[in-house]
This record gives sequence, structure tokens and C-alpha cells, in this order.
Amino acid sequence: MKCNPVFYWNYETNAEVIINQGGTGSSKTYSILQVLFLKAIEHAGSVITVAGQDIPNLKRGAIRDAKTIVSNTPEIAQHIVGYNGTDKIYNFKNGSIIEASESTVTLISLS
Ligand SMILES: Nc1ncnc2c1ncn2[C@@H]1O[C@H](COP(=O)(O)OP(=O)(O)OP(=O)(O)O)[C@@H](O)[C@H]1O
Ligand SMILES: [Mg+2]
Repeated sequence: MKCNPVFYWNYETNAEVIINQGGTGSSKTYSILQVLFLKAIEHAGSVITVAGQDIPNLKRGAIRDAKTIVSNTPEIAQHIVGYNGTDKIYNFKNGSIIEASESTVTLISLS
């Protein structure tokens, strides 16, 4: 799998909370998804939720990138049982799941 520095910063840290700041197209979503796929494979039974502001945004962003990663990365694909498009869940052979979900956090706009 091809990994860039953004991947390693997120993969190697032990921090409880990680904030990624960077311009559009700087590989935040893509690299963090690569990290999440590997963590799901390394830790059997993981439940990982990718939250976005709404489902249309997730479809255009994280879900599209996740499909690209899986189809480009046989090392990841071999650990996946399947993707349930209705529930937006990847199921792994080791019992882990990665699910996409509309965020329940209310965004407050300050003016
Ligand atoms: N490591 C990578 N390998 C291959 N393609 C990549 C990689 N990182 C990013 N890309 C490509 O670049 C596109 C933009 O990257 P990404 O969506 O991760 O940016 P982003 O930092 O999340 O931007 P935004 O702030 O707009 O959400 C991806 O959809 C993907 O096609
Ligand atoms: Mg993004």
C-alpha cells in the first residue's frame, strides 16, 4: 500500500485525539481511512464509526475514498467480507466493522 506522511502521522501516534488541519485535497480523508482500515484489520472486533455532517457528504467524500482504497489495495481487500451499501458498513473477516454515520453533533455557527 502506498502511504504518505499524513498516513504515518496518524498511524503512529498514541494520542487520544488527533486533529488534522490542511487544505482541500491534502489527503486528510484518504490517509485517515487507510489508517482506519489497518486498525480494523489489526484489532479484531473493532467498531469504527466515520462520522460526517450528512450522508450525501459522506457519499461524495469518505465513502467514495473508502471504495477506491479497497479496490486499489488487495492487502486490505483480502480481509473484508463485504460492504453493505444500505447500512454503509464494511464487515471484516475478524469481526471488525467500519460504519459511516451522520454526525449527531450539532454544529453551532458563531457570527
Ligand atoms: N494517499 C493517496 N493515494 C492516492 N490518492 C490519494 C491519496 N490521498 C488523496 N488522494 C486523492 O486525492 C483526493 C483528495 O484527497 P482527500 O479527499 O483525502 O483530501 P482532504 O484533505 O480530505 O480534502 P477536504 O479538506 O476537501 O476534505 C482523494 O479523493 C483521492 O482521489
Ligand atoms: Mg476530506
